[in-house]
Amino acid sequence: MNNNPIGIFDSGVGGLTVFSKLIKKVPDENYIYFGDTKNLPYGSKSQNELITIAKDIFDFFKSRKVKAVVMACNTTSALTYEELKNNYDFTIYPIIQIAAKCIAELDANKIGILSTEATAKSHAYSKEIQKHNKNIQVFEKACPGWVQIVENKTQNDPESIELVKTFYEDLYAHQTEKIILGCTHYPYLKDILKTFNNEEMFIDPSNYFVDYICNDLAEKSLLAEKQLFEPEFIVSAEAEKFKKSAELFYKIEKTPQTIIPSTIG
Ligand code: DGL
Repeated sequence: MNNNPIGIFDSGVGGLTVFSKLIKKVPDENYIYFGDTKNLPYGSKSQNELITIAKDIFDFFKSRKVKAVVMACNTTSALTYEELKNNYDFTIYPIIQIAAKCIAELDANKIGILSTEATAKSHAYSKEIQKHNKNIQVFEKACPGWVQIVENKTQNDPESIELVKTFYEDLYAHQTEKIILGCTHYPYLKDILKTFNNEEMFIDPSNYFVDYICNDLAEKSLLAEKQLFEPEFIVSAEAEKFKKSAELFYKIEKTPQTIIPSTIG
C-alpha cells in the first residue's frame, strides 16, 4: 500500500481521456493532474524543447512526492521517455511503449496512426509496434491543428470537420484495418471520425494503457489504501478555458490552480 499521489500530465485536456478511465478503475488513489497549457501544443516542438518541459514537470511531481507518473501524452512518451526514464525513483508509465503490445495483437496487418507532427516524425509507434510483430505495416499521419480544435472547443465548426476529414482520408487511403488515436486529445474528435467509418475502426490506446497501469500498481503493491484528497487539477495557463474544454471527458468542479513547473521543480 502506498498513499502517495499519482502524477498525470499532458499539454492540456487530452490526458483527461486517460485520467477519466483511470479514476473509474482505481478511485481510491490520490491524483495530481497537470495540464501544461502554457506550452501547448507539444506536437510542433523539438525533442530538446520537449525534454526540458518534461524534466520540469517530472521535477515538480518529485517535489510533490508522487509514487508514479502517468505520461498521458503520446508526444512526450515518444520524444522524452527514453531520456528521462532512469532519472527518477518513481514508476513512469509512457502511453506508446505500453499500449504498443496490445496494438500489435489486434487482428490487423495494416495499422494507421493519427498523431501530432512530433510523434509521427519520431516513428515511435512503428518502432514500438514492430518490436512485438514485425509483419504489421504501420502508416503514420500527422494531424496539425487537431489539438487546437479540442482545446478551443471548435469541434462543430465546418472548417474543423473538414480538417479532421482531410487527414483521416489521407491515412485511410492506405486501406488501414485499424486506426489508432495516437494523441490523447483525439478521442474528443470521435463523434466526427465515426461519421467517416465504423466506430470499431478507431482504437483509443488509453484503454490498454489504463489496464496495464492498474495491474502494475497492484503487482508492485503500490495501490493506495484510501483517497486522502480530491483529484487536484493544475495548469500552467488559462485555467478557466481548461475547465470548459475538459467537460466532454471530465467535469472539474473548482477552477484549477495555475503553477509553472520550471519555477518550482
Ligand atoms: N495530447 C498530447 C499527445 O498525446 C499532446 C498534444 C499536443 O500538445 O500537441 O500527444
